Amino acid sequence: MAQRIQEAINIIKMNDRGGYTVPTNQLYPYQWNWDSAFTALGIWHFNKWRAWLEIMSLLDGQWQDGMIPHIVFRHNDPDYFPGPAIWDTNTEPPTSGHSQPPVLASIIWRFVQMGTDYDKRKAIEVFPKLMAYHRWFSNARDPNNLGIISIIHPWESGRDNCPDWDIGMQNIVISGNLERYTRRDTSHVDSNQRPTQDQYDRFITIVNFGRECDWDSQTIYANGPFLMADPGVQFIFLRASRDLLAMAHHLEMDLAIDEIKGWVEQVEAGSDFLWNDVVGGYCARDLRTGQFSDAITNASMLSFFADVGSPEQRKSMEAHCRRILGASAFGMPSWDPDHQAFESQRYWRGPVWAIMNHMVISGLEDAGLVDLAARVRNDTINLINEHGMAEYFDPRDGDGLGGMDFSWTAAVYLDLYKTEVAASIVAAG
Ligand code: GLC
Repeated sequence: MAQRIQEAINIIKMNDRGGYTVPTNQLYPYQWNWDSAFTALGIWHFNKWRAWLEIMSLLDGQWQDGMIPHIVFRHNDPDYFPGPAIWDTNTEPPTSGHSQPPVLASIIWRFVQMGTDYDKRKAIEVFPKLMAYHRWFSNARDPNNLGIISIIHPWESGRDNCPDWDIGMQNIVISGNLERYTRRDTSHVDSNQRPTQDQYDRFITIVNFGRECDWDSQTIYANGPFLMADPGVQFIFLRASRDLLAMAHHLEMDLAIDEIKGWVEQVEAGSDFLWNDVVGGYCARDLRTGQFSDAITNASMLSFFADVGSPEQRKSMEAHCRRILGASAFGMPSWDPDHQAFESQRYWRGPVWAIMNHMVISGLEDAGLVDLAARVRNDTINLINEHGMAEYFDPRDGDGLGGMDFSWTAAVYLDLYKTEVAASIVAAG
């Protein structure tokens, strides 16, 4: 254990590129949005100043309209595709053109709760930027005030090639003018653990559409090739808005309170749109066609994190959670292992991800489902103890897959370990 702690710290330091941390060496050479947020949480446990610097450098990429992009490019690395020229966002620094799950406010709220006046002072400094980010999500991704936060690209969900997106992806007409491009991901990682070529062509078609309309969010919402609702982004936004509200009270940001309450109420009410009666759970849904995805994922399980659902809906989600954990050697798989599309090694089509587990654990704990929370917590710690800081893990045998020496996996390990130690001190005390 102690050895892994040191290893986790070393990995994060090794991935430090001077004020920001890359997810892992080579495969992901830039700053990613939710990676940085989780990584900051890990860093916070050994260097607060550097943790806040991680957040400041991520916010340095925030757009005028409030969006925090999913990638901030600080140099052009020919080893990564699609790079800044393909996105062509015309921003300084160059960035990608859409966002990622907005977990940032929740992480900052953790700093404030665990921290000192220093953290409070920093939180006051970034608070307006968090407000702008949430306002952007609400305006740009839910312009008709449905309480349903959309995503315009599977990458915006952070769960890039989950089968959830197959419905929306199959309706994309692959753009004829796809210039020949060379993927870089498959030169770093085995291709059977990565998205297929056909999926990649569709991913790039959406990027081309965004670039051609200058990333105008209203045009993309109205006419873009892909528009889906994601339980992950929906529930993370809702939870982060609740945390932002708690922070506003704590920091006495009284003028912000009504606006945040508006987001919380609207998105909470809108969440029923994601309830799939056939499955008895929250599922992704195509906003253009109304079609549902038909499986429970680790993002569905964030309903507890967001604190949504009637008593019956919560019971049904709990039953799914028990069944899926019962069917997995290690939880929480990213796709229902009882569903025919389950692939235990392919990225978001089955494997376990430490960051998702981190949020699933918080949600289950908050819901009082302590046995389930403890199971996912132990699985996460055991996976990392036995297989290292992999990008993701096989839920059947625990194998570490994808990139190794991953910053956010190391960060989750540090945070789980620290809170475990703190809990045992309280118990002993
Ligand atoms: C992949 C993941 C995404 C993550 C990125 C960097 O694209 O799907 O969630 O942010 O890698 O780690």
